[in-house]
Amino acid sequence: MVCHDSTGTYKKFPTDCGYPALKEKKFGDKVFPAVDLKNVAQNVKKPSRKNCGACHFFGGGGDGVKHGDLDTSLLTAEKELDVHMDAKGLNYTCQRCHSSFNHQISGRKYTQPAPNNHNISMPNDDGNRLSCESCHTQRPHKNNYKLNDHTDKVACQTCHIPSFARQKPTVMNWDWSTAGKMDENKKPFEKKTETARGFNVYDTKKGDLIWVKDVKPEYFWYDGTMTYMTHKDKVGDARPVRLYYPNGSHEMENARIYPFKIHGGKQPFDPEKKTIIVPKLFGPKESGAYWAAFDWIKASEVGMAVIKSDFSGKVDFVDTETYWPITHMVAPKEKSLNCADCHIKNGRLKNLAGFYMPARDSNNLIDYAGIALVILSFAGVLIHSLLRLAGRKEQ
Ligand code: HEC
Ligand code: HEC
Ligand code: HEC
Ligand code: HEC
Ligand code: HEC
Repeated sequence: MVCHDSTGTYKKFPTDCGYPALKEKKFGDKVFPAVDLKNVAQNVKKPSRKNCGACHFFGGGGDGVKHGDLDTSLLTAEKELDVHMDAKGLNYTCQRCHSSFNHQISGRKYTQPAPNNHNISMPNDDGNRLSCESCHTQRPHKNNYKLNDHTDKVACQTCHIPSFARQKPTVMNWDWSTAGKMDENKKPFEKKTETARGFNVYDTKKGDLIWVKDVKPEYFWYDGTMTYMTHKDKVGDARPVRLYYPNGSHEMENARIYPFKIHGGKQPFDPEKKTIIVPKLFGPKESGAYWAAFDWIKASEVGMAVIKSDFSGKVDFVDTETYWPITHMVAPKEKSLNCADCHIKNGRLKNLAGFYMPARDSNNLIDYAGIALVILSFAGVLIHSLLRLAGRKEQ
């Protein structure tokens, strides 16, 4: 029902594991009226962006906290924000791209590798992997052959999503180590300060959160798989600790340069066992929940016992990172990256080493040849378009 309700009344109650309120219930000051299940069942329709977004826009407990490219701004998107979900244009639902077969929604990132040799998987094939190429093919550029030359090494998203969180800010850093401060009445509090491109929030429950709007992605080689750390893995000496990160390199045939949001954090970890702590957050004070008792040691003891993990009794904090692939919020073609965004020193790809890129890499003969190539292909494109224009006028 959460996927198919068209009445907008089917809502999960925050702490009931996904169940809606069947009697009127309160959560803090918020009233959750009883859901009329019969009415909802009689009004099931194909999912709208609102249905899917009810979960996917709010990962991490708020609008746009986790994904930098999935938030409620997509409900009323204009072309500027997303050329496919543009409400006055293509107005795609999520499932227009995320086609499904027997309710298996395509577009999983966790276990499937990237398309082998970039085979084109048509929508409605086996409902497994979804890509831009499914609709556009690998050579989508009509007038610019040089762009088509890039699609084996540079993902479509890299050039077509110049920045994410373009309308609503997303959390770029979440520092749990500062949680637990009380106000002058010894009560939990929240404080928000506006910044140039977003805002900062202090929340006794959560610590310090930095929200930023219109963020340029970071770029990495990516073969469609990630390396994940679990609560069982030891934290090494490298800082920040990467809880998960993309796999790939220039040498890998399947890997392409792909845009990411890096979500920074500072999280509790066990300095003796050297593992990331899974604390208990929610519950009544007696349960040891951090959001009621504000005691990290107690919350860690309870949380680690639930997942049957050893806990030394000590809590420290460690810098962490997670990598979120950016794939929505495709901008109008005029806003795509230009040659000079990458083929320049200190451009967008300055941190990607291990391969040669004309005009980006150090001065030597090939470099001049490279620059010449870029200029030549640029000129080629220009002449080509001029010829086409001229050709058109004659008709
Ligand atoms: C224009 C096509 C398109 C539309 C419309 C679209 N998506 Fe996606 N989505 C993609 C592609 C492409 C991927 C990457 C899949 C992959 O690499 O396997 C993706 C990936 C995802 C992922 C996994 C991302 C991650 O970070 O792990 C989620 C979740 C998702 N989409 C949800 C949604 C929701 C919710 C909507 C509607 C609000 C939506 N998508 C609309 C194309 C689309
Ligand atoms: C009730 C909440 C909920 C709703 C509604 C929902 N999803 Fe999901 N979705 C999830 C959860 C939770 C996962 C992760 C499940 C897993 O890994 O097994 C997920 C996983 C996904 C993934 C794979 C993400 C990845 O990185 O592997 C895609 C794509 C996706 N959902 C798209 C959609 C679309 C499209 C809709 C609307 C038709 C939708 N979801 C509706 C909760 C929801
Ligand atoms: C190296 C950067 C780059 C890559 C990679 C790239 N594009 Fe483009 N794309 C552009 C630019 C710049 C334009 C606008 C200028 C043009 O069409 O010549 C554009 C235009 C487009 C258009 C409009 C087409 C037209 O002729 O009007 C589509 C559709 C498109 N790209 C889809 C894709 C898809 C799908 C992929 C991945 C297979 C992709 N692009 C990869 C840079 C890129
Ligand atoms: C379900 C099919 C489908 C998928 C999947 C899809 N697109 Fe499109 N896309 C379209 C259609 C249809 C248009 C409008 C016609 C056109 O311009 O070719 C379009 C238009 C575009 C344009 C031109 C926008 C403009 O300014 O006119 C770009 C760029 C683009 N898509 C990039 C992408 C990228 C990047 C992805 C992957 C994240 C993607 N598309 C996935 C169907 C799709
Ligand atoms: C998103 C960054 C990006 C953009 C934008 C971009 N390139 Fe590239 N380009 C690369 C990368 C990465 C390579 C190296 C790929 C490899 O190692 O195979 C490359 C390689 C090249 C090469 C040498 C190899 C070849 O394929 O011939 C030329 C020439 C080139 N680009 C021209 C251009 C031109 C012209 C444009 C604008 C129309 C452009 N590039 C836009 C990233 C980019």
